[in-house]
Amino acid sequence: MKRRDFIRVMGGGIALAATAGGMSACSTRYPDAVLEAWNGPDDALGLPMWAVAYAILAPSSHNRQPWLVDLRESNSISLHVDRERMLPMTDPWFRQITVSQGAFIESLLIALKERGVAPQLQLFPEGEFAPREVDDRPVARIIWESRSATLAKDSLFPQLLRRQTAKVAYDTARPVAESVLEQLRSAVAGFEVGFGGTVSADRVAPLRSLCLDAAKVEINTGRTIMESTRLMRIGPEEISRHRDGISINELVPRIADALGAFDRSQPPAEGSVGYNKAIERFEQHSLSAMGFVWLTTASARHLAVGSSRSAEVNAGRAYIRLQLKATELGLQMHPMSQAPQEFEEMKPHYDHLHQLLLGRPAAEETIQMFCRIGYCENQQHSPRRSLKDFVKT
Ligand SMILES: Cc1cc2nc3c(=O)[nH]c(=O)nc-3n(C[C@H](O)[C@H](O)[C@H](O)COP(=O)(O)O)c2cc1C
Repeated sequence: MKRRDFIRVMGGGIALAATAGGMSACSTRYPDAVLEAWNGPDDALGLPMWAVAYAILAPSSHNRQPWLVDLRESNSISLHVDRERMLPMTDPWFRQITVSQGAFIESLLIALKERGVAPQLQLFPEGEFAPREVDDRPVARIIWESRSATLAKDSLFPQLLRRQTAKVAYDTARPVAESVLEQLRSAVAGFEVGFGGTVSADRVAPLRSLCLDAAKVEINTGRTIMESTRLMRIGPEEISRHRDGISINELVPRIADALGAFDRSQPPAEGSVGYNKAIERFEQHSLSAMGFVWLTTASARHLAVGSSRSAEVNAGRAYIRLQLKATELGLQMHPMSQAPQEFEEMKPHYDHLHQLLLGRPAAEETIQMFCRIGYCENQQHSPRRSLKDFVKT
């Protein structure tokens, strides 16, 4: 598509005059190759790879997909953090990266059970990482023996290919019933992870505002907004090249980027197209939240016995079950991780969130996941890298 066919730039604003032919070339659909994983694996794949193909569909912060598997031992999968894929500015203690490991592990277990094996999970088989560190030792080792036709399958398996995090406004005319919270709670029983939720207007209102205020801190802090900015993949070429991060395929940012009006080399200036877009996105997400759910861990106790990292992994395992359950119920769930982030500038909101939800400080009980819930149309899935890229050689 030729630029002059559809772009007019007037006084810093962008006006679009798309021709019908030009528009189809500008489809917002991601390239097929990056969505391939969502078709499910080929049944001819060996069991470990088949299960990994489901696990890479797990959610991860900024869609970093920070997972590396070692398949060299038979009937065994070891999981390591891909340390090239961490988010040190917004996730300085690597907590969210650890939670993302849990989401991968639980998906792997669900998939293995589907194929009739009884996987045994050992977390941190060579010892647990220090509370604020990540190293190259395995996060988990999963082993199994022979298959058995009688083993119980996991009822959430069908949702693995359907689950998604829709990053659009929810329908504010459609409330979430209180009873949904109990159905969600049932999905995380047995994980030693606390569950909380609300759909009542008087609790939702301050949480909506808090989400937005916290997002503004992330946007106005140079190093944290730059971390996200560097992970933006704008347009089909960048999306295909990276297959991770924050995929943006809408027409206006693509045009702005093509014209050099979307400067990604520095934090967006207040009032710029990039800045206003970011604020607008967070407003839509925060202010259309129809309820919130959260997962917590007993941090003081875990710290005392050296199990902080296992607790975070278990929170990730619980989180994906919660989101899979939501998928089963036709409900959307979207993490709003700004207020629970640990970087210094966020501290007032971090403390406020813990007070609002738990009435006690994070040192006693930590919020691991904090998500809005509501209803909207399903969106397209997010990209995944190719399966072989996750295998440690
Ligand atoms: C620990 C964790 C934190 C997350 N925090 C956010 C967040 O703050 N904002 C957001 O839009 N998505 C967040 N997500 C969702 C991811 O962006 C999403 O899983 C990823 O883009 C892949 O998309 P999918 O879930 O649709 O497959 C988070 C996911 C995890 C596991």
